[in-house]
Amino acid sequence: MVSIKFVKENKEIEVATGSNLRFKAQENNIDIYTFMGKLTQCGGYGQCGTCVVDIVEGAHNLSPRNAVEDRMLKKRPSTCRLACQTVVNGSISVVTKPDKKESLKKLKAEKAALQAAEAVPQESAGEDSPSGKTIASVD
Ligand code: FES
Repeated sequence: MVSIKFVKENKEIEVATGSNLRFKAQENNIDIYTFMGKLTQCGGYGQCGTCVVDIVEGAHNLSPRNAVEDRMLKKRPSTCRLACQTVVNGSISVVTKPDKKESLKKLKAEKAALQAAEAVPQESAGEDSPSGKTIASVD
């Protein structure tokens, strides 16, 4: 058994390892859909993108993001998942109905951090070392 904590609802549930996040949320009366989501949701087939949740703790305890999620969640940070596509293998904390503006901010911060991380090796490539010898870049 593992636990899922729903932060906004202040509710924690115990589920079997390998449970589907959307199914367990609904089974425990956790509302994961916005008003529009309630009207247009696909029933858990990965077609509508309305079951978005933000994993604030324990993301490593979930199944990896699949191709459907990569396509549907392009404008969301890596912490966001489609509940219907997510299998819970360990304890997590979840924010339901994450705010789109906050998600966009997180996404921009993630992209900036990624760009900064990628820029570091290029800036140091070919620079002189403190010993006076040129450091060759290794690619
Ligand atoms: S319920 Fe439609 S994508 Fe999850």
